[in-house]
Amino acid sequence: MQVITNIKGLVQILPASASCVRGKEMQKLEVLSDAFLLFDENGIADFGTMEQWKSKAADYAGAEETDAKGGFVFPAFCDSHTHIVYAGSREIEYNDKIRGLSYEEIAKRGGGILNSVDRLRQTSEDELFESAWERLQTMCAYGTGAVEVKSGYGLDLANELKMLRVIARLKEKSPMTIRANFLAAHAVPREYIGRQTEYVDLIVREMIPAVAAEKLADFVDVFCDQGFFTVEDTERILEAGAKYGLQPKIHANELAASGGIQVGVKYKALSVDHLEHVGKAEIEALLGSNTMPTVLPGAAFFLGMPLSPVREMMEAGLPVALASDFNPGSSPSGNMQFVMSLGCIRYRMYPEEVVHATTINTACAMGVEKELGSITRGKKADFFITKPIPTYEYMPYSYGDNKVASVYLNGKKVI
Ligand code: NIG
Ligand code: FE
Repeated sequence: MQVITNIKGLVQILPASASCVRGKEMQKLEVLSDAFLLFDENGIADFGTMEQWKSKAADYAGAEETDAKGGFVFPAFCDSHTHIVYAGSREIEYNDKIRGLSYEEIAKRGGGILNSVDRLRQTSEDELFESAWERLQTMCAYGTGAVEVKSGYGLDLANELKMLRVIARLKEKSPMTIRANFLAAHAVPREYIGRQTEYVDLIVREMIPAVAAEKLADFVDVFCDQGFFTVEDTERILEAGAKYGLQPKIHANELAASGGIQVGVKYKALSVDHLEHVGKAEIEALLGSNTMPTVLPGAAFFLGMPLSPVREMMEAGLPVALASDFNPGSSPSGNMQFVMSLGCIRYRMYPEEVVHATTINTACAMGVEKELGSITRGKKADFFITKPIPTYEYMPYSYGDNKVASVYLNGKKVI
């Protein structure tokens, strides 16, 4: 057993029965002051105040003790939307963007996703693994413990499998919780331009069965948006995925009211992500579903996109999750502390709301809420200790700096 003592605030305590946190409930955050946390590799055993620890300490005389020294403890972030397997970077397009070209215009000029596809096809599995591993390490150092990782820069069978095998290796080697998402419907590859339906045929008939045969994916994704895949394409892909037990997570309504949210809800998607274009019809569709509306503040910030109506969604009673979207084109960062700050500064979310949005709600968006996303007895001991900070609100307030001092995953100190 191990115990962390003198925790200034133990943040995001939830009962074991709790699932995602929605609407006004997101404004409430349970924080225990002057606390201890007892755990081992089997999970969180107990927590309470330091006063209570005095009477328990004798029972755990052999427990290894770490003094938090005035740091806060948060559950590790769950980052439910990333594209961290990629080759090279795209700062050249960044230049184009600064000069005023839109994401769609850059894509039309052969940049964007297809630029990353060209590079990925020329990069070996080992090289991809090494660079993705580095990114994971950095994310972990910023407090992330669970990550969903997408394919989608291969866009042919061999290269999509190559990406998914890299994700499988990350899963195997890393103590982080990793889920793989098959996103061949990220863009139409150059060799299929003008033949989009034939590319969807290829995904449905060949790629999905091959990916499922090797058990390389947990989820299936489609970029269902203006200029990318249609609702009809999406339905075909989600139906094919469902035959193999692949649950959907959808890129929806980033560029237009694409119908992506409705089709996601119809196929019981775990989440619909981006959501810059959301109106009453989309909110109505999400109410009564278990699909997690997921906003990607880093991408909207980087691309200068309109802001998702997060407040309206929460006022309607919906939950909201915030993920990094770490990728080379629209969000070259996996820093979830900065995602929290963007949630507060740009979307006017409250500090309590962004804690839920980056922990339990992203855990729901990747189907791991029973074991991660909160400080709960019996859940995995995945958490971080902050440097000495005055309040939990300081986390989103102090943007840019890394406030994380150490990270524990599966009850073991990894940072
Ligand atoms: O989630 N919107 C679609 N896909 C990615 C961007 C990928 C890229 O530009 O390489 C996203 O933002
Ligand atoms: Fe994405």
